[in-house]
Amino acid sequence: MKHTVSEYLTFFREFQNHGVSTGAFTPSGRHLARALAEPIRERTWPARILEVGPGTGAVTRELVRDVGPEDQFDLVELNDRFVDILRRRFDSEPDFRQVANRTRILHQPVQEWKPATDYDFIVCGLPFNNFAVGLVKCIFKHFEDLLSPDGTLAFFEYAWVHEIKRRLTTIEDRRRIARVRRVLQRYLRLYEFRQQTIYRNFPPAVVHYLRFHKPGHTSP
Ligand SMILES: C[S@@+](CC[C@H](N)C(=O)[O-])C[C@H]1O[C@@H](n2cnc3c(N)ncnc32)[C@H](O)[C@@H]1O
Repeated sequence: MKHTVSEYLTFFREFQNHGVSTGAFTPSGRHLARALAEPIRERTWPARILEVGPGTGAVTRELVRDVGPEDQFDLVELNDRFVDILRRRFDSEPDFRQVANRTRILHQPVQEWKPATDYDFIVCGLPFNNFAVGLVKCIFKHFEDLLSPDGTLAFFEYAWVHEIKRRLTTIEDRRRIARVRRVLQRYLRLYEFRQQTIYRNFPPAVVHYLRFHKPGHTSP
């Protein structure tokens, strides 16, 4: 299914109003959403799944097809407008309604979400390259706690984002981007087991798949 015009408009409006946290002016495309959902589609057991930063539900639309009858599906989103849209979709759209009884929409920042049990899969759409380095560290540490020992984290970054941003921004922001980059690279070096570039997305994106090896590992 394609994005509706209203989904694009809402996303763009939220980008104008909350540029840092929204991080993109258009929702993810179908191919990117499928790549993020891949680990969930490939598993064969009941799972606990967390989507972080679902926005208007562009990736959620893929995920709901893979949520099984015994799965738990949680979404955590901080933007009021996006939360309203998600609630409406789980009330009205057939693919969403099918899993509504095992879905929770949590209206809060992910770093404040402290569930009783951990997750087998985290799918994350956060724009880390817009964030302060402290927030990136805090969220990744939190993901380590939220994810089960064998769990998988999938997140994406727009391809060439650092190079493009570096050229367009102030010296101060360049320093911030470089520090964020170092944090992400340390995590990727230690825990990434696969990545793929999705060229059929606007803009093209790189999907990273990570597994945090516990116990006994130390955070980077
Ligand atoms: C780049 S958009 C991705 C939206 C959607 N997943 C997609 O791919 O089209 C980032 C989303 O993360 C949300 N967000 C940003 N910071 C967040 C945080 N700390 N906790 C939860 N959601 C957050 C934003 O409100 C926005 O919906």
